[in-house]
Amino acid sequence: MRRKLVIGNWKMNGSRAANTILLAGIKAGLGDARADTAVCVPAPYLAQCQAELTGSAIAWGSQDVSAHASGAYTGEISAAMLLDFASKFAIVGHSERRSYHQESSALVAQKALAGVNAGLVPVVCVGETLQEREAGKTADVVGEQLDAVLEVLSAEQLAKIVLAYEPVWAIGTGKTATPEMAQEVHALLRARVAKKDAAAAAGMQILYGGSMKPENAKELLAQPDIDGGLIGGAALKAADFLAIIAAA
Ligand code: G3P
Repeated sequence: MRRKLVIGNWKMNGSRAANTILLAGIKAGLGDARADTAVCVPAPYLAQCQAELTGSAIAWGSQDVSAHASGAYTGEISAAMLLDFASKFAIVGHSERRSYHQESSALVAQKALAGVNAGLVPVVCVGETLQEREAGKTADVVGEQLDAVLEVLSAEQLAKIVLAYEPVWAIGTGKTATPEMAQEVHALLRARVAKKDAAAAAGMQILYGGSMKPENAKELLAQPDIDGGLIGGAALKAADFLAIIAAA
């Protein structure tokens, strides 16, 4: 039985003052939530998360991690640095990084490898654009994105990652994949992992991301292969984020 996991991806939002209010609101409303919960915040706020979330049921993490361990990589942040602030998760391969920073699937796989080797849980994102979906290429596109990771990670390492399906056309647009559409892709991703290792596939948490909100979360999270959510906009309001966690 896979545990449900709900992660808030704050993207480039927040301030020290606003974060304190948001985190306090989430902590206060969490109650006995059955789902595991985390926030992936801009790196400068990891210390704040450590200070304000230690001892709570909410984990924290980053939105990226370097594929390199240390050295002359200006602007990069290593897995060890993230772990210095007790980060648990590191999102890798978000479509915004793939498109605005030209990150290839091969680089994303190296980032996942660096993260998992250091002891972080990489949240590997895959997803197709609207054009790719309309051309009937969804399975090929997400399959190739996943294959890059399957090539690089051993079965043992694979068992330590989280996967996220984020259709690009659903991110921040208010358009959500129907539960059936999302389930279909989640099932094919799981089957693809199973070809490499059945146990890793059975245990792998596969999250859905893309305009998940309190109004659609329950139906999406009821699908057999949807193990949680990677939440953007709705993670910036404590009430909405808590409602999604409750739906899980
Ligand atoms: O990583 C989360 C994401 O890209 C979805 O964003 O705002 O559509 O929930 P949003």
